[in-house]
Amino acid sequence: MSESGIESVLTENRSFEAPAAFAKAARVKSLGEYEALYRRADEDPDGYWSEVASELHWHAPWSSLRSGVFPDCTWFDGGETNLAFNCLDAQIAKGLGDKTAILFEGEPGDQQSISFSELRAKVCQCANALLDLGVAKGDRVAIYMPMIPEAAIAMLACARIGAVHSVVFGGFSAGALADRILDAGIETVITADGGWRRGSVLELKKNVDDALVTAPVKRVLVVKRCANPVSWQEGRDHWWHDRVDAASSEHQAPALEAEHPLFILYTSGTTGKPKGIVHTTGGYMVGAYQSTKLVFDLKDDDIFWCTADVGWITGHSYVVYGALLNGTTTLVYEGAPNHPQPDRFWELIAKHKATILYTAPTAIRAFMRWGDEWPNKHDLSSLRLLGTVGEPINPSAWMWYREVIGGERCPIVDTWWQTETGSIMLSPLPGAIATKPGSCTRPLPGVSAKIVDKQGVECAANVGGFLVIDKPWPSMLRTINGDHDRFVQTYFGEIEGKYFAGDGARRDPDGYFWVMGRVDDVINVSGHRLSTMEVESALVSHPKVAEAAVVAKPDELKGQAIVAFVTPMKGEKGSSALSAELRQHVVTQIGALARPEEIHFADALPKTRSGKIMRRLLRDLASGNTTAGDVSTLEDASILTTLAAQYGDEE
Ligand code: PRX
Repeated sequence: MSESGIESVLTENRSFEAPAAFAKAARVKSLGEYEALYRRADEDPDGYWSEVASELHWHAPWSSLRSGVFPDCTWFDGGETNLAFNCLDAQIAKGLGDKTAILFEGEPGDQQSISFSELRAKVCQCANALLDLGVAKGDRVAIYMPMIPEAAIAMLACARIGAVHSVVFGGFSAGALADRILDAGIETVITADGGWRRGSVLELKKNVDDALVTAPVKRVLVVKRCANPVSWQEGRDHWWHDRVDAASSEHQAPALEAEHPLFILYTSGTTGKPKGIVHTTGGYMVGAYQSTKLVFDLKDDDIFWCTADVGWITGHSYVVYGALLNGTTTLVYEGAPNHPQPDRFWELIAKHKATILYTAPTAIRAFMRWGDEWPNKHDLSSLRLLGTVGEPINPSAWMWYREVIGGERCPIVDTWWQTETGSIMLSPLPGAIATKPGSCTRPLPGVSAKIVDKQGVECAANVGGFLVIDKPWPSMLRTINGDHDRFVQTYFGEIEGKYFAGDGARRDPDGYFWVMGRVDDVINVSGHRLSTMEVESALVSHPKVAEAAVVAKPDELKGQAIVAFVTPMKGEKGSSALSAELRQHVVTQIGALARPEEIHFADALPKTRSGKIMRRLLRDLASGNTTAGDVSTLEDASILTTLAAQYGDEE
């Protein structure tokens, strides 16, 4: 859908300027200003980044701004800083102590407004509690939480003491949590007795207990959120209200080296094993700070609502760190967008007077489907800027967002970036860059993005190629936890001397980027990144499955949907009961986000003579395309025919 939609807009080439008043008040006010800033950052990256970094607090100055070349770059060497200090103490020192830092609403409707001073006190208490429990600098801490203030407090407390956090999205299963605990060498888990989701309790502590059977840790800190019964292991499990609330609210933020690891966040690659993306303190801080400021054109009185969960990079960089680093009030909502009714988001915006909404295309498409009457019931006039992230946005969803939510007055920033990039790479600077529906427009100052062919040669305008970044940037990932070779190979092994993002894209004659989607086996379901191999591994771990191949098919709502082709074990037969069992098995292995939309059974899967599953054919099949291209390498073309016929019948 996205590709053909984008094509039609390319032809149409509609573009929207920000309203004059918006541009006049913007930090970067015109295309000319953007281009001058871009050129400046490109010609003198050291000067540019050193100016940006100087707006933050450093316990000790860096001696070298940037060292090394791809893939092994470091930033701000010799510098010492503390991210939590910059988010809290530095804001308080600027006079923002009484300003609201976190505006929270739980799904049941409970609310909290936490000022920067109060947040600092809570973070210090949590930091002291962690230290008391024996957590030290460099130790790894998993955070498996609902979207409640304690999630941000736990992240900030880890950052404050130099413990490396690894936030695991609450929708991941116990099995997925266990894998991450083992890979990251986690000794401490911070969780909650549960979280609210569509009126039910998400059993987080129970999942932790299940995960710890195979992946034991030393300690578990548990927030009481839902007051539901949980099992308890004395000596290992500790209540947050006993430990944190009793701790001192004073804590001196230590100076941490700029390259001290800040967090590990797992994301899917092309193999069955998720990658632990490692980000470090100084560079990540500078990237999150600058991108939030420029892309969202922050003002002192903004109420910034990024709807992502902290379990994803967007939640890290824009719910928590980027917002707080800029002294901005961040709105945090715990629950589902349609609970109790499909207007929960619009009610929240009207109630809390949110000025910026940053969400995913999938959510926008769902809102469209639910109908205009829901947003129309509410006063959305506080909004001044809209953003999207996570997947290509189809132009009709973009136009709906602009008209129905933005009242045609709010610019839309379509932001392209990745877990690996740490912060936004491509996006309009609202006020300066006219937007086109479906395009993430231009690179941020300091970001050198290109579209190249396999040989690394830049493509001509409107010719599709690979999206690469060809110069280092501060918030780039530094490695994959425990597998530096995989890091080098994955990101720098494809196109000589350049970071290859995994996305296909093109650039139009105005220099605008149009990201089409992944060119590898990574799929994007509702903005959630998954690997086909990961789902295949989950399927083949079921005793009744001999072989499985997973592909994505375009889906109007989710962007992509998962389609699995499964060969049952000898003696087993494909049936709707087995299909249901396998779908549940994937949920248990990974989480509900990976549940296949369709499962098709086949006696064999189409393979090349060398034994490789021909995914391209399966993709075509799943998408309802007639198979194009060369099938002569098929070992047994009749398998495909059988499969196609069967697929057609089931449709
Ligand atoms: O394919 C691109 C898509 O999401 C991938 C990154 O996923 P993840 O690391 O989970 O981070 C998502 C949030 C930053 C990219 O490789 N993607 C992200 N933003 C966009 C996008 N595709 C098109 N347009 C975007 N704005």
